[in-house]
Amino acid sequence: MKSFRGMTALVTGASSGLGSEFARQLSLEVSQLLITSRRVDRLQALSEEIQKKSPHLKVFYMPADLSCQEGRDILCDWLTAERMDIDILINNAGCGDYGLFEESRLDRLRSLLELNVITMTYLTRLVLPQMIRKKRGVIINVGSIVGRKPIPICAAYSGSKSFVHAFSEALRLEIEGRGVTVTVIAPGPLNTEFFYRASRNNVDEKPFVPPFMWVPLEKVVNDALAAAKAGKPFYVPGFYTRIASFLHSLTPSFLLRPIYRILLPIQCKRSTSKKDNLSCSLHQ
Ligand SMILES: NC(=O)c1ccc[n+]([C@@H]2O[C@H](COP(=O)([O-])OP(=O)(O)OC[C@H]3O[C@@H](n4cnc5c(N)ncnc54)[C@H](OP(=O)(O)O)[C@@H]3O)[C@@H](O)[C@H]2O)c1
Repeated sequence: MKSFRGMTALVTGASSGLGSEFARQLSLEVSQLLITSRRVDRLQALSEEIQKKSPHLKVFYMPADLSCQEGRDILCDWLTAERMDIDILINNAGCGDYGLFEESRLDRLRSLLELNVITMTYLTRLVLPQMIRKKRGVIINVGSIVGRKPIPICAAYSGSKSFVHAFSEALRLEIEGRGVTVTVIAPGPLNTEFFYRASRNNVDEKPFVPPFMWVPLEKVVNDALAAAKAGKPFYVPGFYTRIASFLHSLTPSFLLRPIYRILLPIQCKRSTSKKDNLSCSLHQ
């Protein structure tokens, strides 16, 4: 098992949810921590909190909108100018868009794909050569259980997370034996700002799943870091989520489709975008 002692970590999407927790837990081990997201006040507060607890740790933050090339350039230029040598990359920043695809807004779709797909790919490409050169590196890409087997009502999000999974698996095989590992974590629903932001109506539309499937953030991150240290390619945090995800991924699509046909109108009714429930029924 690898230790993260003495390493430099970069966490994207660190201003809330999973990203803040990654930053907190990594701060107990690494010697330099870099955090980024758009909300600078949150980044500043988090870096002060972490710095208080770990006075010897160097914490840096850089606000950047990673859903556009300009924002990625700000982050990458800063990393290059400061000669930041990243050993651990946590590609966590991500967003969703909940609702019928035909009603989605193009600007939101573009941001989602830029953030979830392009930024993750771009940052990985940026840090990988130096990791390979040093024969030392850990990349954690945050996927989702919906990236394993796509589900309707979040088609673009599911598709973007499927990319995260496929890309990570292929890259991992490509660089095997060269000192760098890629781990995908695929959480189930988490109690973060995610669902509020994914809603098109500014409401917290949490999915209807049994309470035991909500895994605390501390556990998700703790298990994700342990999985990465152990060099695991893939990890689903939470016992019940793991079982559900496993069964879901084994179930052939021809069996899942009739289930979705029943569930979809129910999901649509729950969603506040109750425009036309009839349009929810999947075409056969
Ligand atoms: N919550 C869930 O149920 C769940 C389940 C499976 C997977 N995930 C994945 O987990 C990851 C973290 O999500 P979360 O649940 O912690 O949600 P969250 O609380 O909404 O956190 C998302 C983070 O991404 C950052 N972000 C959003 N848009 C950005 C942009 N344009 N540029 C830069 N940073 C941006 C946000 O910061 P700013 O707004 O300050 O920029 C925030 O720090 C995501 O990849 C998500 O897809 C979540």
